[in-house]
Amino acid sequence: MRVAMIGTGYVGLVSGACFADFGHEVTCVDKDAGKIEALKRGQMPIYEPGLSDLVGSNTRAGRLKFTTELAPAVSEANAVFIAVGTPSRRGDGHADLSFVHEAAREIAAALEGFTVVITKSTVPVGTGDEVERIIHETRPDCECAVVSNPEFLREGAAIRDFKLPDRIVVGTDNARAREIMSEIYRPLYLNRSPILFTDRRTAELIKYAANAFLATKITFINEIADLAEKVGADVQEIARGIGLDNRIGSKFLHAGPGYGGSCFPKDTLALLKTGQDNEAPLRIVEAVVAVNDARKRAMARKVSAALQGEVRGKTVALLGLTFKPNTDDMRDAPSIPIVTALQDMGAKVRAYDPEGMEQAKQFVTDVTFCRDAYDCAEGASALVVVTEWEQFRALDFERLKSIMQRPVLVDLRNIYRPEDVARHGFVYESVGRTRKV
Ligand SMILES: NC(=O)c1ccc[n+]([C@@H]2O[C@H](COP(=O)([O-])OP(=O)(O)OC[C@H]3O[C@@H](n4cnc5c(N)ncnc54)[C@H](O)[C@@H]3O)[C@@H](O)[C@H]2O)c1
Repeated sequence: MRVAMIGTGYVGLVSGACFADFGHEVTCVDKDAGKIEALKRGQMPIYEPGLSDLVGSNTRAGRLKFTTELAPAVSEANAVFIAVGTPSRRGDGHADLSFVHEAAREIAAALEGFTVVITKSTVPVGTGDEVERIIHETRPDCECAVVSNPEFLREGAAIRDFKLPDRIVVGTDNARAREIMSEIYRPLYLNRSPILFTDRRTAELIKYAANAFLATKITFINEIADLAEKVGADVQEIARGIGLDNRIGSKFLHAGPGYGGSCFPKDTLALLKTGQDNEAPLRIVEAVVAVNDARKRAMARKVSAALQGEVRGKTVALLGLTFKPNTDDMRDAPSIPIVTALQDMGAKVRAYDPEGMEQAKQFVTDVTFCRDAYDCAEGASALVVVTEWEQFRALDFERLKSIMQRPVLVDLRNIYRPEDVARHGFVYESVGRTRKV
């Protein structure tokens, strides 16, 4: 199959590289000439484990190409994927579809022969109808089918997720499109990943329902964590105790500073808007969004509590800034409002993140960026684990104690056991576990 991938961001680049690895001929297109030039030189625009090798081997094999020229890539393709961004629209929280619509117009002008146009971007119900309308308005003569194929990969584990998905969702009622989609994903369902064929609107809504459900699960355990702290229970054990029930499942039950990242915040908001527009308000998701928003500043208050309210003029050191480990993505990371709240309280903030510091500079100000965890902890009155990067899981507490102003650890990811930290003479605060020291 000849595939054109429009948008070479997290999703477009990973999907394009994986499709090439399946044996398809893939051209990744992006408007960002700097990104394309870097990719041609073998430099990855994002940090994602394994991506550089996958892109390198498929580029050398001649199956993966990069260009800023959309038209030739589209005219040769059997399948054109739209993988451009769909951020929150400023002001109202609706998904901003301007990139999708623009891509549809450009694709329409270049289509030749029967082509499947697939929306991989996360888009509200009815976007496929609009893409189809735009294409037919621009090119009434063209033969094409517009399909929804939402992407479920997780940053940090994106290649594995793409190659071993729990399911592939394809929304279309066009038989030729179904055949082409089956051919594109054939290597995966030979590996027994189920392909779920639905109508287009259902596929579009599956993506939002999945993200809203996961965001709800996280927010649920976060509220249980708050209650556990008040009543002297342990949220880790509660999560295990409920997660072993197959009807509930153990994933996404880790209490922490609230969900963030490039998807859940914007997708939950966009789903609320779709609900309101269709007079089917989603009260549970509304509560999830509100609870999660309030949570991040509450985490800064947790730091303040560990310092007995004496934050002004003190140095607070943050370990981890990205919304989760193994990515450099800072979009809607919980660290951003946590930094602001600590600065509002008068703290001086130092921070270290293994991959995200360059990105972080665009989102926070007046932060001292450090070389490593120990450089970060130097002179700090509190050390805060914000993102659970592997390298923060076995810190040398004696060394930390010798360089910090005060031995205070606030562990927002529960990566330590209270008794272990206490043994080193630290004041320790975590999430959903009663303060033991
Ligand atoms: N990041 C994730 O983990 C993830 C997971 C599942 C789904 N999604 C969804 O996938 C979509 C893309 O997300 P992302 O994180 O990859 O976004 P991104 O911002 O990293 O990448 C989008 C890319 O599209 C390019 N672009 C925009 N308009 C273009 C055009 N007309 N022609 C060519 N290139 C164009 C931009 O320059 C950018 O490089 C979003 O809808 C997102 O919700 C993301």
